[in-house]
Amino acid sequence: MGAISLEGVEKTYGQGAKGVKVIHGVDAAIADGEFVVIVGPSGCGKSTLLRMVAGLEDITGGRISIGGRVVNDVDPADRDIAMVFQNYALYPHFNVFDNMAYGLRIRKVPKPEVRSRVEKAAATLELSHLLDRKPRQLSGGQRQRVAMGRAIVRQPQVFLFDEPLSNLDAKLRAQTRLEIQKLHRELGITSLFVTHDQVEAMTLAQRMIVMNAGRIEQIGTPEEVYATPATVFVAGFIGSPPMNLLRGDAEGSGFRVGGILLPLPGLAPRTGALTLGLRPEHAQWHAETGTATSAHWPLQVEVVEMLGAERLVHGRLAGESFTLRIDGTLPAPQAGQTLSLSAPVDRLHWFDAERGSRVG
Ligand SMILES: Nc1ncnc2c1ncn2[C@@H]1O[C@H](COP(=O)(O)OP(=O)(O)OP(=O)(O)O)[C@@H](O)[C@H]1O
Ligand SMILES: [Mg+2]
Repeated sequence: MGAISLEGVEKTYGQGAKGVKVIHGVDAAIADGEFVVIVGPSGCGKSTLLRMVAGLEDITGGRISIGGRVVNDVDPADRDIAMVFQNYALYPHFNVFDNMAYGLRIRKVPKPEVRSRVEKAAATLELSHLLDRKPRQLSGGQRQRVAMGRAIVRQPQVFLFDEPLSNLDAKLRAQTRLEIQKLHRELGITSLFVTHDQVEAMTLAQRMIVMNAGRIEQIGTPEEVYATPATVFVAGFIGSPPMNLLRGDAEGSGFRVGGILLPLPGLAPRTGALTLGLRPEHAQWHAETGTATSAHWPLQVEVVEMLGAERLVHGRLAGESFTLRIDGTLPAPQAGQTLSLSAPVDRLHWFDAERGSRVG
């Protein structure tokens, strides 16, 4: 029942000459029970889109449906959604129980029903022993769970999350991410989750919508988006550290970057100006594989970072900045050293130099 459909959705803030268009025709279909993450840089329109689904912003153009019903003109309270925000202000003078019960009480849900829903949600969120506490007596993560509990007790068709984890420290974020996944498995409620953090998006999403400047760049599973980014923007945005991107000219079995001709392990999809992408973990260090291949790219090492299980080797390749990821147990390359890299042909990504769209 909780499928969401966006058709040609547009948003302009302001009127006439002062109007600013921030959403430029967005199409997406979210299946009933699916967990979809909207990810993109700050200001790309994620919150605006979510708030239009919630009914907190007017829709300038297009159509939004929830559960098969067009909701363009439906009041937020009648959309059967529950929203969790980044700044989920709890009522400081209410205890946890009352914070969670409040939304049900104002909807005149009968008392015994309120009690059973709150107790059930509290058990799911492991808050049962904290129901008498005031928000100031809770940790950040516990407060966050209360905010989530407030949404769960509503038993909505759809959950909308707008960066609900961004006030938590790194460890708590990772932990809460797991809790949200568990919760989704248990409740199976359609969820639309907004974040600017691509790691959060990758780990939470069944499918992700990557947005840039008010447009959708790609919709797909995390695996699809990572393995086959549709545009140079997605290639540079998803993945940490980001994909290496080199602009140059393809000539037969070489790629000219600056004045240097890098040999390719196969032909480029076409000749002329292209952007070549290679992930840091897919570049092979010759010393690492021990096998010589036809393609050798010289990487001049500048800085090496030890991350524990792996090292990041930052340097210059054909004058451009380039990062290589290697196993942490390998001996560390030294600054000033030149490494010989090769690139497996099936790991190369090719993009149109002008439009940024994937060409191979
Ligand atoms: N009420 C408003 N009036 C005018 N412009 C607005 C309004 N709200 C947002 N905008 C603009 O719309 C664009 C999209 O904003 P939005 O809040 O949706 O971005 P976001 O992707 O959620 O960013 P963030 O990650 O920083 O939260 C931005 O350029 C923003 O300045
Ligand atoms: Mg936002």
